[in-house]
Amino acid sequence: VDTSPTICGMPLKYVSLVTLAVQNAALSIVMHYSRVSIPAAQAYSPASAVLLNELLKGSISFVIALWRVLSASDAAGRSLVGIFVAFKRVCREIFSPDCWKLSIPALLYVVQNSLQFVAISNLPVATFQVTYQMKILTTAAFSVALLRKRLGSTKWLSLFFLAIGVGIVQIQSTAGHAPQRQNIPVGSAHESAPLHIHIMSPLKGFGAVTAACFTSGLAGVYFEMVLKGSKADLWVRNVQLSLFSLIPAALPVFLESPYPHAPWNVMNTMLRNFGGWAWATVAIQVFGGLVTAIVIKYSDNILKGFATSLSIVLSFMASVVLFGFRITPSFLIGSTTVLVATWMYNQPPGKELVAITSVMPA
Ligand code: C5P
Repeated sequence: VDTSPTICGMPLKYVSLVTLAVQNAALSIVMHYSRVSIPAAQAYSPASAVLLNELLKGSISFVIALWRVLSASDAAGRSLVGIFVAFKRVCREIFSPDCWKLSIPALLYVVQNSLQFVAISNLPVATFQVTYQMKILTTAAFSVALLRKRLGSTKWLSLFFLAIGVGIVQIQSTAGHAPQRQNIPVGSAHESAPLHIHIMSPLKGFGAVTAACFTSGLAGVYFEMVLKGSKADLWVRNVQLSLFSLIPAALPVFLESPYPHAPWNVMNTMLRNFGGWAWATVAIQVFGGLVTAIVIKYSDNILKGFATSLSIVLSFMASVVLFGFRITPSFLIGSTTVLVATWMYNQPPGKELVAITSVMPA
């Protein structure tokens, strides 16, 4: 009997999966728009966005961890004294002796989230999405090296196709290596002000996305090692992750401030130019972090891979409409190869051979 949780009668597993796909696509579009549609002098600080993301995600995860303890207790446990006892229990779990283990993925995720801003500011949305699929390759490499996982020949073949597909997209996007103007969203207020706008550098973007793929793979595998090595609650682990992220995330915010010893000044510098699009980017990122946690708990990494590949198609269609993205034959060939490779990689054991023969021409 399937006892997995449901939302409105639908399995949480699939709801979280579809939500992650839509979240992934929405994040790259909103983040891209929030960075490139605004003149450089009015741009918000990515370091502030990374810090706010961790502050909000950690707080929400703490409330969920507390709520889980309270909902498992009786009526007396939900009194004021009961809430205080639950609060103390959650805090004790958070500051458990093995909490330091989360410091490594926390640092890696801060670096990854910062690199994501550099990448998305210098690459078209669809190109970023496709190239970011290389994280499947790095995740596989770190899984083999750290978790001693064994990969079958189909998985290695699909990883090879993935690298080829990413290469095709990369070659067409970096041709000439000249920094290029970003596609101005249709109807944007800056459509008629070409001199102010952000200049994209594809080479810088690809450098950042490649580095982000390495931190993503290592952080994901490390987080998996920590989760499987203990019985601690996922939401408690999320709070630990956010807590350890605070120092590396806050450091650049303090360094950006002209008066780092004055908290009010730091706050002012941090929130400078933080408009609606910046807040939307942070909100979608926070939501994504929470959904990722649910996907890891109720689904698995195989289904997470599917969600990411679905998000490529979604963001591609959206960028054609929103950013006037032009479909080139090499983009189509490259992204199709990436999608087929992702699908092949995600075939369960036993179905792999069927997957290969069905993509090969007769
Ligand atoms: O692309 P990838 O799957 O590596 O992205 C993971 C993202 O999810 C990162 O932005 C990370 O900060 C976030 N995350 C999280 N909580 C977790 C695991 C990942 O917020 N438990």
